[in-house]
Amino acid sequence: MLTGGVRGLGRRIVEKLVAKGARVTVLDLDAVGLEDLRRQAAGVNCLQCDVSDYEQVVAAITQFHEQHGAVDVLINNAGILYSAPLVRVGPSGVERHGVADWHRVLAADLNSVFYVTSCVVEKMITTRTRGVVVNISSVSASGNAGQSAYSAAKAGVNALTATWAKELSLMGIRVVAVAPGFTETESTRLALSESVLKEIIKRVPLRRLGTPDEIADGVLHVIENDFFNGKVFELDGGLVI
Ligand SMILES: NC(=O)c1ccc[n+]([C@@H]2O[C@H](COP(=O)([O-])OP(=O)(O)OC[C@H]3O[C@@H](n4cnc5c(N)ncnc54)[C@H](O)[C@@H]3O)[C@@H](O)[C@H]2O)c1
Repeated sequence: MLTGGVRGLGRRIVEKLVAKGARVTVLDLDAVGLEDLRRQAAGVNCLQCDVSDYEQVVAAITQFHEQHGAVDVLINNAGILYSAPLVRVGPSGVERHGVADWHRVLAADLNSVFYVTSCVVEKMITTRTRGVVVNISSVSASGNAGQSAYSAAKAGVNALTATWAKELSLMGIRVVAVAPGFTETESTRLALSESVLKEIIKRVPLRRLGTPDEIADGVLHVIENDFFNGKVFELDGGLVI
């Protein structure tokens, strides 16, 4: 099961999992995108769900469990990128980070991970299913200027990864994270101007963005390597060293 599989990194991960013969279920809020995914990737089970809404998550995952039983691989990928500093100093004065934006980003990027994982892991435990939870984090988890809410959410995701690995390993459930650096996706292009991206690329020792293929291959690697646990696999071209 993967959240946010309609576009971007999630879509590439779905394609790679399908190519390996996995039976994949995607939870995404984009109904039109899910229709498109259903047509293009035959066999992918598509469920519409806003993973930042607890009631929707409980309903979608209960429906899934009734039809298919427990999940053995969960990838918490859905999220939104949002950039804003704590206070912005501009020509019209000093402006605080919006509280609504803070809650929106924390709901989509952190609460969602808690909601989906608690529902999925409950069933794994009651059915004694072994498996792995992969949380998609970000290099911003270490604190990125201009991304208060996003950095806080992803730092929370890293903390949950370590906490849940300690809680669940004895029940045969590994919990890991993959933290992409700046990656060549539509969301990156929409969120960052060409000039900001050029500055970022100058700070990456490899002098380029990552590719969705490289991130998706990293996700497959942490799923397949049974000794990787509780840690964050950073795929950022050496940006954070
Ligand atoms: N693109 C990057 O450079 C980059 C870097 C670091 C981390 N990440 C992380 O990777 C993940 C995917 O990023 P992306 O760039 O592919 O994003 P994207 O915007 O291209 O795709 C996100 C997908 O998640 C879905 N989604 C968003 N909010 C949702 C919600 N509340 N409920 C259900 N579905 C929802 C969207 O519909 C979409 O299909 C995110 O967690 C992001 O923080 C991305």
